[in-house]
Amino acid sequence: MDQKPLNHLHILLIFLFILLRSPPMHCQLDYSFYNLSCPGLTRVVRNGVWAAMRNETRIAASLLRMHFHDCFVNGCDGSLLLDETSDMSSEKNAKPNNNSVRGFEVIDKIKAEVEKMCPSMVSCADILTLASRDAVYLSGGMYWPVALGRRDGRVANQTAANNEIPSPFDSLEKIRDKFAAKGLGIKDVVVLSGAHTIGFAQCFTFKNRLFNFNSSGEADPSLDSTMLKNLQTQCPDSDDSDHELAPLDSVTKNTFDNVYFKNLMNNSGLLHSDQVLMEDSETASMVSNYSKYSFLFSKDFGASMVKLGNVGVLTGDEGEIRTNCRVVN
Ligand code: HEM
Ligand SMILES: *[C@@H]1O[C@H](CO)[C@@H](O)[C@H](O)[C@H]1NC(C)=O
Ligand SMILES: *[C@@H]1O[C@H](CO)[C@@H](O)[C@H](O)[C@H]1NC(C)=O
Ligand SMILES: *[C@@H]1O[C@H](CO)[C@@H](O)[C@H](O)[C@H]1NC(C)=O
Ligand SMILES: *[C@@H]1O[C@H](CO)[C@@H](O)[C@H](O)[C@H]1NC(C)=O
Ligand SMILES: *[C@@H]1O[C@H](CO)[C@@H](O)[C@H](O)[C@H]1NC(C)=O
Ligand SMILES: *[C@@H]1O[C@H](CO)[C@@H](O)[C@H](O)[C@H]1NC(C)=O
Ligand SMILES: *[C@@H]1O[C@H](CO)[C@@H](O)[C@H](O)[C@H]1NC(C)=O
Repeated sequence: MDQKPLNHLHILLIFLFILLRSPPMHCQLDYSFYNLSCPGLTRVVRNGVWAAMRNETRIAASLLRMHFHDCFVNGCDGSLLLDETSDMSSEKNAKPNNNSVRGFEVIDKIKAEVEKMCPSMVSCADILTLASRDAVYLSGGMYWPVALGRRDGRVANQTAANNEIPSPFDSLEKIRDKFAAKGLGIKDVVVLSGAHTIGFAQCFTFKNRLFNFNSSGEADPSLDSTMLKNLQTQCPDSDDSDHELAPLDSVTKNTFDNVYFKNLMNNSGLLHSDQVLMEDSETASMVSNYSKYSFLFSKDFGASMVKLGNVGVLTGDEGEIRTNCRVVN
């Protein structure tokens, strides 16, 4: 009967509670975006990547590549994570990704834990961006802070995935143009190619260099002769060997370091698209600098990853926060 009216303090507390529990609305990425709404996020992602790497070291490389292929199609919006539906062809089935991009289960697992802790708060795009940073860091590489607040896209674009993701058979000009279309420069091409210091490639992505390069009847002249012999053994000239794996950096295959660039200086790049960085004097000079100064590689790689993570992001009330990374809400 004698109901006590809410005093100012109550109203303030209720207001604060609602404010803290609701997803923040900013129009820019922000380092403390989830500090109030999901304070455990970075720990859960770090632990998820760490657990996956303890099971299989290579998964670090796969997560890093997944982020790159997500960002190159519709921006970093988690569109690569969407499964195919009857009215939408997926990016994961596009040529550069099908039977090649891996790590979807790892993202699903991290997402499920994040949803338990802070439901409908954190985008799949942000989880993937953080996971790729942690993958590099936990592989012995550099660390960079990741600004957050990306939103998830509602569509995948298989055509764009086929056309816009660089191919290992592309020329340097073509690769440069595909990066430029995302607002990334030639320095980004060179330094981000340094991601190939970890991970593996299937024989069909470089076999054209081993036996009859460019219809010449010879191997690619820009491939070291010892490495050529080893690769010819690993990837014999028949379709059976197409899916065999070779390390992108055969010297330190699981460590995120600058040895990729040292290899290019020795004609030991695995993909044609790696070794072409030595064909142009400007990119070759960058390769030489990164091969000599690992701190320069660390600094520039972190800066270019931040640029990559900003490509075409959705913010504010654009897109959505998916609850399952494989389907739109
Ligand atoms: C410059 C143009 C690039 C081309 C043409 C290219 C091409 C490729 C190819 C063909 C593979 C092997 C895939 C397979 O055999 O299934 C590969 C693997 C990989 N790429 Fe790239 N890539 C490029 C740039 C990048 C960038 C910018 C990143 C990340 C920042 C990256 C990260 C990786 C990683 C980590 C792997 C190993 C993945 C694994 O072991 O699962 N690549 N890339
Ligand atoms: C947000 O949290 C991160 C990680 O715990 C911390 O480094 C950062 O200083 C926090 N930012 C603010 C504004 O509190
Ligand atoms: C562990 O790694 C293997 C590949 O080496 C993979 O098939 C399997 O699904 C992974 N298991 C877990 C629990 O991540
Ligand atoms: C993707 O690969 C599978 C084999 O694993 C194949 O059946 C399917 O047709 C491929 N999808 C596309 C779109 O090429
Ligand atoms: C997909 O991307 C291509 C560019 O590669 C564009 O022309 C097309 O309009 C896009 N489709 C959709 C549905 O957005
Ligand atoms: C392939 O051969 C053609 C014709 O001989 C030549 O113009 C082209 O530069 C060669 N491409 C490469 C990548 O060597
Ligand atoms: C590259 O050359 C250096 C110096 O000659 C050598 O120590 C290193 O083992 C070579 N690496 C490869 C992959 O051949
Ligand atoms: C590589 O380093 C040298 C010496 O520090 C510098 O003069 C040159 O501009 C650098 N090359 C590129 C392409 O940045």
